[in-house]
Amino acid sequence: KELSLSQEIDLHIDRVQDFPKEGIQYKDISPLFLNSELCTKIVRTFADLSRGKIDAVCGIESRGYLFGVQIARELGLPFILVRKAGKLPPPVISQEYNLEYGNAIIEVKKGYIKQGQRILIHDDVLATGGTASACAKLVQNCGAEVSQFSFILGLSFLGGIDELKKYTQDIHLLLE
Ligand code: PRP
Ligand code: MG
Repeated sequence: KELSLSQEIDLHIDRVQDFPKEGIQYKDISPLFLNSELCTKIVRTFADLSRGKIDAVCGIESRGYLFGVQIARELGLPFILVRKAGKLPPPVISQEYNLEYGNAIIEVKKGYIKQGQRILIHDDVLATGGTASACAKLVQNCGAEVSQFSFILGLSFLGGIDELKKYTQDIHLLLE
């Protein structure tokens, strides 16, 4: 019997115990990229979920770029890099957010996200939702609309999805 896409993805994610620290089980998506056929299916699936509903894709550094740029290309739309602090030359728009310990900042080039645009925010993994929420705030601060979120994998036990529902109900996880 043929496997579903989520089953196939599941088989291509490595679970690593006690990384990066004790008690954490790290989900490594690297094996996905060894399978080009599967990557094509994933890009098409993401693109089909967003076709006609968005004007641009925001991908979050760094693993959000892996599929983000491919989704944008597949749909013939702009891809906008949302980067960690200090990587982009000015002028930029910044958004601070909370991590488990301390704070972080993400940035986007000023003027790249245009007023009124419908934006897909894409990343590889949804954990607490802190990173994606910060990106959503950034999009709104640019006068654009957070239309969709998409992720390969969502760690539902961390409740990140509830965090994102403040922005849109249109949230897609290929695997939970
Ligand atoms: C990971 C992952 C998401 C984020 C999810 O990125 O790729 O971007 O954490 O966590 P959250 O939902 O709790 O915010 P990381 O910061 O490890 O960096 P990387 O993508 O550059 O590897
Ligand atoms: Mg990341």
